[in-house]
Amino acid sequence: MDVGCGPGLVARLAAVRGYRVIGIDADPQMIRAAKRLAKHQCSSASFKIGDVAGLPVEAAEVVSAASLLAVLEDKVGGLNALWKGVRPGGTLLVIEPTEQMTVENANRVIENGLPRKRIDGLRLWAAARQGRTVDPEMYDTLGAESVRFVPLLHGLVGAWIIQKKGIPYADIFTPAAQDAGVIGAA
Ligand SMILES: C[S@@+](CC[C@H](N)C(=O)[O-])C[C@H]1O[C@@H](n2cnc3c(N)ncnc32)[C@H](O)[C@@H]1O
Repeated sequence: MDVGCGPGLVARLAAVRGYRVIGIDADPQMIRAAKRLAKHQCSSASFKIGDVAGLPVEAAEVVSAASLLAVLEDKVGGLNALWKGVRPGGTLLVIEPTEQMTVENANRVIENGLPRKRIDGLRLWAAARQGRTVDPEMYDTLGAESVRFVPLLHGLVGAWIIQKKGIPYADIFTPAAQDAGVIGAA
């Protein structure tokens, strides 16, 4: 479940990798664009209008949010709503610019070689986020099993992979889980 999906890039990428995915966004125009692009690319991703505050509880094994928290007024509320949507043993993936996302650092990355079509977007992104990035200490308040940080784009952006305590859904039906009494043996 990709929340704040915009035109659906993350959702379409996940669908290509075999995930059954739904993208959710509060803006009907974004959902229209996401549906149009998905149709054009024959993607199996589906899309729905919705607000992060109204997500269903424990609805998905993976909940992702790329560049959503930074645009929310209530970042703590938004983060907790995303977290509630994750099933036990599942994963919350947050992708956000880091505090390294400054105009100066972005220009350095551009000078070191960035595909031409990405340059304007990165300049705009850096100007918009400089000094206004999400504080990653927030993720430590969730009581997660683990929080892993993966730097992207030379550290200007980060992926936080936040694992919820519990047995991953995919493992519930394994013989090992049966032996452990997670479900009754047939
Ligand atoms: C910066 S865009 C990121 C879009 C997309 N995730 C991406 O990485 O290309 C933020 C998106 O969050 C959506 N959004 C803002 N507030 C929201 C909310 N309360 N609930 C759901 N989506 C929201 C906006 O409509 C917008 O599409």
